[in-house]
Amino acid sequence: MSRIVYLNGDYLPEEEAKVSIFDRGFLMADAVYEVTAVLDRKLTDFEGHVARLDRSLNELGMAMPLTRDELLEVHRELVKRNDVVDGGVYLQITRGAPSDRDFVFPDPETTPQTVVLFTQSKPGIANSPAAKTGIKVISIEDLRWHRRDIKTVQLLYPSMGKMMAKAAGCDDAWMVEDGKVTEGTSNNAYIVNGNKIITRELSHDILHGITRAAVLRYAREAQMEVEERAFSIAEAQAADEAFITSASTFVMPVVEIDGAKIGTGTPGPVAARLREIYLDESMKAAI
Ligand code: PDD
Repeated sequence: MSRIVYLNGDYLPEEEAKVSIFDRGFLMADAVYEVTAVLDRKLTDFEGHVARLDRSLNELGMAMPLTRDELLEVHRELVKRNDVVDGGVYLQITRGAPSDRDFVFPDPETTPQTVVLFTQSKPGIANSPAAKTGIKVISIEDLRWHRRDIKTVQLLYPSMGKMMAKAAGCDDAWMVEDGKVTEGTSNNAYIVNGNKIITRELSHDILHGITRAAVLRYAREAQMEVEERAFSIAEAQAADEAFITSASTFVMPVVEIDGAKIGTGTPGPVAARLREIYLDESMKAAI
């Protein structure tokens, strides 16, 4: 049975979902996206993802083509039709497909946006073996544009970063600008010292992670100290623990940075506890 995807109002088998070669998502990366995790057939942090989508669209002068309720219905319908137990729903909205290539934005009256959603099934992601061993990261220069708070599909450099990590025998890359870590290629970055969690403050320099917001809230509720400020690779290498967060990894321990072991070189107690709290709480709140 082929995967059923959503394209501009229709539910179609994936092979039948076709988008124009003039689509601005394809030609110009003129598109935004979201990834919402599915745990036990339910959507986690859905409201946060819709709010960030709305913000990304606004920043680029694009309209929200579906209401929150319509978006929820499409997400749920896709999870149901594809029998997704664990995994995620990917959503992308582009500025549409004008009749030719042009740098100038098309008139939204005549060029409707392209809306695509599809599911990715990842059975058992909550019990990922990587969470028990931790991941290894390398550091690379952050060469992305300066509006990383907008979740656009300009993912070439993050893809290159993952490939550089892979070539170095690692799992991911942390990007560095002016001597300080911005974030991971597709996740937010943290270090831990004692009971204190340190992560870069929100600005245009990083994506405002939905998992980040939830994890920091749970950390504060659990009486952990949170400090929002930038840190260097050297500081991270000397920290007790390090971890990343995202809708696809939740809370994932980092045990090595540029070949230097973090703490004992195994996942630390703070990251493990935050992962447990995050998974418990987000399963409870999932819709
Ligand atoms: N990536 N930073 C970047 C650059 C990201 O691409 C992501 C998410 C995050 C974490 O955001 P959130 O907690 O809302 O998932 C931070 C998604 C998962 C992706 O590209 O697949």
